[in-house]
Amino acid sequence: DMGGHDTYMHKEIHEQADAVDRVLRGRIDDRFSTVHLGGLNLDAREARQIRRVKILGCGTSYHAGMIGAQMIEELARIPADAEPASEFRYRNAVVDPDTLYIAVSQSGETYDVLAAVQELKRKGARVLGVVNVVGSAIAREADGGIYVHAGPEVCVVSTKCFTNTTVAFALLALHLGRTRDLSVRDGKRIIEGLRKLPAQIAEMLEQEEEIKKLAQEYAEAHSMLFIGRVRGYPVAREASLKLKEVSYIHAEAYPASELKHGPLALIEPALPTVAIVPDDDLLEKNRAAMEEIKARSGKILAVAHQHQEKADQTIVVPKNEDELDPILMGIPLQLLAYHTALALGRDIDKPRNLAKSVTVE
Ligand code: M6R
Repeated sequence: DMGGHDTYMHKEIHEQADAVDRVLRGRIDDRFSTVHLGGLNLDAREARQIRRVKILGCGTSYHAGMIGAQMIEELARIPADAEPASEFRYRNAVVDPDTLYIAVSQSGETYDVLAAVQELKRKGARVLGVVNVVGSAIAREADGGIYVHAGPEVCVVSTKCFTNTTVAFALLALHLGRTRDLSVRDGKRIIEGLRKLPAQIAEMLEQEEEIKKLAQEYAEAHSMLFIGRVRGYPVAREASLKLKEVSYIHAEAYPASELKHGPLALIEPALPTVAIVPDDDLLEKNRAAMEEIKARSGKILAVAHQHQEKADQTIVVPKNEDELDPILMGIPLQLLAYHTALALGRDIDKPRNLAKSVTVE
């Protein structure tokens, strides 16, 4: 049942305010400015002993994991990174007892992720799952974890589950942070930010008509570049994946900081750039990158917290706490991918060559 929407992708994009409400529900503890995560199976002493966090997932779940790793580093000050599970499982990685491994998967059935979990468990590592489908293979195999409660996601292209997974990581980062050295004041600040998310998502979705017009324009492009730095970079990666999956337009994501090391050579009027420009301490650096692109007659669409003069167009996203900004910045880019695909007449819910879950090698 599409509930009045023409595609599941559209329906699922519009379900995100409710979905985020669900992942937050019952988990916030105002008394200690932290969150309770019932299924984690990680006591405070164990949480304090973690020396590293390694997050594993594929596709969109990997991108959500990249955002999660940044949140964990920022809020819990534990070194963290994300890696495609599909690479990790083939490289005889050093498995370290002080590392917390986290497997991320919407379906909970992705074979590359499951195989990585099984290999880690065989070597005695502790593995948590950040999973949507309750009781799925990865959820069962993990030592504990967080359900992201996005609800059923039917469209092959993941949208609401991506958003909910990033929120689940914010909860985990806050929990680990408050078990370690994050102050009460910062805990409160993050909780306030989390509580604002559902209303801000609804506010974001109200801009659909304008984004649709932009998409009709960008549907003519043969290729697009997505740039961002630090918090903006995983958002650029995910936006680029979304666009290519559903519209079949070639897209590439690059850290804005790497432009001058090569990709600037590509810039010309026919290659539009989408720049992710959060209003954080890297704002000036991002403006300088946009200037470099403008100087080479490149067209720019900025996704930012305030109107960007250097860009040809700006989609303005509601501002949250810096650490939580990536959660909202992905949403207009889901709409951009959706409307680009619609303008091109693509099979939105079932893009060619793709399956909802990849349960084979
Ligand atoms: O079910 P999972 O989250 O484990 O799936 C991982 C990827 O196959 C998945 O995210 C894929 O990239 C989607 N088509 C993204 O839209």
